[in-house]
Amino acid sequence: MLKTKYRTHTCGELTIKNKGQQVTLCGWIQKVRKLGGMTFIDLRDRYGITQLVSQDEGAIDGFSREMVLQVEGEVIERQSKNPKINTGEVEIRISKLTVLNKSLTPPFTIEEETDGGEELRMKYRYLDLRRNNVRANLELRHRMAIETRNFLDKLQFLEVETPVLIKSTPEGARDFVVPSRMNQGEFYALPQSPQTFKQLLMVAGFDRYYQIVKCFRDEDLRGDRQPEFTQIDCEMTFVEQEDILNIFEALVKHLFKTVKNIEIPELTRMTYADAMKYYGSDKPDIRFEMKFTEMNEVVKGKGFKVFDEAGLVAGICAKGAGEYTRKQLDELTEFVKRPQVGASGLVYARYNKDGTIKSSVDKFFNEETLKGWAEAFGAEPGDLMLILAGEPHKTRKALSELRLEMGSQLGLRDKTKFACHWVIDFPMLEWNEEGKRWHAMHHPFTAPKPEDMDKLVSDPGSVRANAYDLVINGVEIGGGSIRIHNKELQARVFDILGFTKEDAQYQFGFLMNAFEYGAPPHGGLAFGFDRLCALFGGADAIRDFIAFPKNNSGRDVMIDSPSIISPEQLKELGIAIK
Ligand code: AMO
Repeated sequence: MLKTKYRTHTCGELTIKNKGQQVTLCGWIQKVRKLGGMTFIDLRDRYGITQLVSQDEGAIDGFSREMVLQVEGEVIERQSKNPKINTGEVEIRISKLTVLNKSLTPPFTIEEETDGGEELRMKYRYLDLRRNNVRANLELRHRMAIETRNFLDKLQFLEVETPVLIKSTPEGARDFVVPSRMNQGEFYALPQSPQTFKQLLMVAGFDRYYQIVKCFRDEDLRGDRQPEFTQIDCEMTFVEQEDILNIFEALVKHLFKTVKNIEIPELTRMTYADAMKYYGSDKPDIRFEMKFTEMNEVVKGKGFKVFDEAGLVAGICAKGAGEYTRKQLDELTEFVKRPQVGASGLVYARYNKDGTIKSSVDKFFNEETLKGWAEAFGAEPGDLMLILAGEPHKTRKALSELRLEMGSQLGLRDKTKFACHWVIDFPMLEWNEEGKRWHAMHHPFTAPKPEDMDKLVSDPGSVRANAYDLVINGVEIGGGSIRIHNKELQARVFDILGFTKEDAQYQFGFLMNAFEYGAPPHGGLAFGFDRLCALFGGADAIRDFIAFPKNNSGRDVMIDSPSIISPEQLKELGIAIK
């Protein structure tokens, strides 16, 4: 099937069944070696490696790694077989070798375990992509995209492309902007997501839309964030939250089954309020338990100021960690004090195997009281109780980090295990202390829950939305909501968010006008496709699942971008730079 004028077979397909055939292969030299008067070449292409052999020692003089060759020869049985690869039983007895192109010595070895550092590999990304493991990541990505399309196509979702040169859509990050030559002084924005367009497609009656689509966000980068990334973006008409959760739960199961042959059990659901109370995070990793235990009632009033003055005293029970050494506990204390974690200290209590309990605050709490702690935690001999205290929000956040750290230390975060769940009932708004105003927790198009509608003015902070996130292994894979489809309600929400009438009209007039022409009830979600691929591939960084990613400063070091543009180009765009 892959036969062309250049080759009869690929480097990954010849087996003992082809013995005796005359074949032509093309590929790159992975390795050359001479052995006992014979010459061997490992020829590599995307499909595999085939060994070439010649009696002529001089046949490969001047040959080196990564040269491009065409070889003609006969398929023969190998003396020493390699059971690890498909083609391991055969080799090609070379009758003709043609060099299709030479190669400089690559700056790093093109093997799974390479000696190339990150920056170097990014600069020569086309060489990095020759490595099996990197290529396998992109093959996985391809499979995920195909399976997503298959699944959604069967359910009548239409893939519709939405524009890339648009006007700002507020998803919480900054926009990348593109100057317009024809409309000087004006700018397009690249979409942070196709949010408003997909809603307009629902107004247009498309019923079910999806798109595997590039999105652009100018935000600080991390392992799971790129300035341009891809979403599986979906929207549906005449649906409730329940319909959306069911369909996309089925998509998740379909992907796990078809791509990884893993059966995922029914996804559990957790309210945002519970996620924060028990895990201190809106994306808890539930591969392991270690829920928070709130201790205010058990610890207050014993003269220990740190606890007495704290808004919240809460802890976790690390099963089987009771034998942690003093050094390990000191390291944990250092861990929680790091600025990124932000706790002021750590209190611990070891439940020893002999039934005694020793804490770091024995001065204030006698053994009897500590037994009460153990009871609250459900701790048993051999367990370790770790407690933080302080302002409630900060304490939960820090304890969440400590929980994840303990999960890692105790080997509870196995990358081959997957715990998928929904977090639901997100608050609609969140108070921004800096700007002294309400922000949309998901985005401004998210509808309040009908039963909370009457609190929109009196108590905006308590209004919940039909908004949901898909979380897998503690990673936010996706999110969505039921949308507002009524002009008056949308205008009220913009008002609460601090938009003037004019601003709202200027930025979103097109959407609110569309709502006046028979906008149906609708809702949807988007999955972060790169994150989903990285998770399936057992990696943390999404970079390795993107063919040409940016580095952490947002640069493409291969093409050296962003870059300055010529004064002529700037002039044409009507842009003056100091
Ligand atoms: P949201 O902003 O939650 O929702 O984005 C959806 C998902 O996209 C992924 N994601 C990213 N992945 C890589 N790099 C980034 N910089 C990045 N930012 C986000 C995350 C996230 O969960 N329009 C709404 C969806 C909707 O309401 O239908 C939206 O974009 O996995």
